[in-house]
Amino acid sequence: MIFASNFKTNHTRKSTRDYLYRLQELTIKNNLFSKVYIFPPSTALDNFENIAFNIGTQNAYTTQNGAFTGEIGLEQLEEFDIKTILIGHSERREKLFETQDIVSSKFQFFKDQEFDIIYCVGEPIEIREKGDDAVIEYLLAQFEGIDTTYEKLTIAYEPIWAIGTGKSASIKDIENTHKALKKISNKPILYGGSVNAKNIEDIANIDSVDGVLVGSASLDADNFCEIIKNGLK
Ligand code: 13P
Repeated sequence: MIFASNFKTNHTRKSTRDYLYRLQELTIKNNLFSKVYIFPPSTALDNFENIAFNIGTQNAYTTQNGAFTGEIGLEQLEEFDIKTILIGHSERREKLFETQDIVSSKFQFFKDQEFDIIYCVGEPIEIREKGDDAVIEYLLAQFEGIDTTYEKLTIAYEPIWAIGTGKSASIKDIENTHKALKKISNKPILYGGSVNAKNIEDIANIDSVDGVLVGSASLDADNFCEIIKNGLK
């Protein structure tokens, strides 16, 4: 199982450091050896000595450096050995207006740099209400320009209506969607959307779920540790 935590616009530089060392202590104490990814805000990226987790960036611009006000590029990531990125998160697509063209060129750029890419897809509620076929058609469009055979690709299925709502997708919806996504790519598929310490066991038990991408419930290190503990399979 992969356990990924997306901090979004939460945590400071100091609290990120405290979190990582707390999580390290908890995972060692509980013998939780699994694949853990943490995505702090870019202001909190740093060299974390002895941290066993994979630290990634929530976003970056398709450049080494240059005149791109407000963005970070490869030069800033290289300083901290960051080689993992989230691309296509629905919050960037919806709130920051990243089109499929932008998302796919970002994918191509970071693929060329051999980054581990967690590529997010997910449908809005009005599409989910139309049924499974409409969902798959919508998700397929989010793979336009994406190399689904890229060896360092992990897919994250995050239905928009389940993000931050406390209402996770049903086991059946996750199962059906992941099964359909497995036909598009043989890469690991994470589920994201209101995952917590209570529902993780049922979600992790789904065959086609290879891990989870967690927001709110992962912001506290003890809570995230509980999720890892309950979700190991
Ligand atoms: P929540 O766990 O808060 O629903 O967020 C999920 C998510 O968007 C992770 O990227």
